[in-house]
Amino acid sequence: MKTVMILGGVKGVGKEILISCLKKGYNVSFCGRNAKLGKEIIKSSEAENRLYFHQLDLNKIDELKNYHDETLKRFGKIDALILYAGITPVASILDTEEDIYDSVFNVNLKAPFFLLKYVLKSMVENQSGSIVFFGSSHMDYGQEDRAAYALTKSTLYTLSTHIAHHYAKYGVRSNYLVMGWTNTEGEVELRANEGISEEDLKNKAKGIIPMGRMLNPNDPIPAVLYFISDESAMTTGSLIRITGGEYI
Ligand SMILES: NC(=O)c1ccc[n+]([C@@H]2O[C@H](COP(=O)([O-])OP(=O)(O)OC[C@H]3O[C@@H](n4cnc5c(N)ncnc54)[C@H](OP(=O)(O)O)[C@@H]3O)[C@@H](O)[C@H]2O)c1
Repeated sequence: MKTVMILGGVKGVGKEILISCLKKGYNVSFCGRNAKLGKEIIKSSEAENRLYFHQLDLNKIDELKNYHDETLKRFGKIDALILYAGITPVASILDTEEDIYDSVFNVNLKAPFFLLKYVLKSMVENQSGSIVFFGSSHMDYGQEDRAAYALTKSTLYTLSTHIAHHYAKYGVRSNYLVMGWTNTEGEVELRANEGISEEDLKNKAKGIIPMGRMLNPNDPIPAVLYFISDESAMTTGSLIRITGGEYI
């Protein structure tokens, strides 16, 4: 039975990954800031013994080692790591203050990097592992008001190819999924703060995305399950675009 560790897992696509992995019979370790939410997901799952929730704030790097160690203690190994959690501050270079810059680099880049420090070691010892990065179309140049965010997502791609290049010899694979515009909790909340309802958001996206609709949190799931599975045993260093044709 595989064990899948998710950075995130309580919301959006992360939560759909958790649900899909449970259906496959996998163990799932997931994390977030809200312990109540984590407990509720476990209680409602009918697979309590295959779930582990770790409360943490990704601004505090120290807790990542504990998240790794507790996952290993509970399930014995980590077959796949899904790096989903992230934040999207709305700021151009001209209006990015140091605290915004630090928070997006801490959560989106520093946290995955230091979690990988521990998880990669375990995967190398097992001579097996699959890592999936959640990227964004902003990685190429980024919308004007997504400056620091764009930098984190392009650097994550370098981190993914770095791992693919240097760790293939240990049986560890790494792939980068470019996720398109999706009505996750985070995106809906961001737009609500700008006075845009979820319905208006979907209508706006419909007019912009070439395939005619906003993505939903299930759209990336088949690709994630493929990267986790042994069917993708020879797939590493890839970038897959699930954007409905946007930014191509
Ligand atoms: N939605 C889109 O259109 C879109 C497009 C491209 C890429 N993405 C990527 O998809 C991922 C999810 O983003 P989203 O905006 O769509 O949000 P989301 O689905 O609401 O998920 C955000 C996740 O990040 C976690 N998180 C955020 N800050 C955290 C912190 N300080 N400590 C611990 N966990 C934290 C949240 O957990 P808690 O809040 O419970 O702590 C939650 O699990 C990001 O990597 C983003 O770059 C999204």
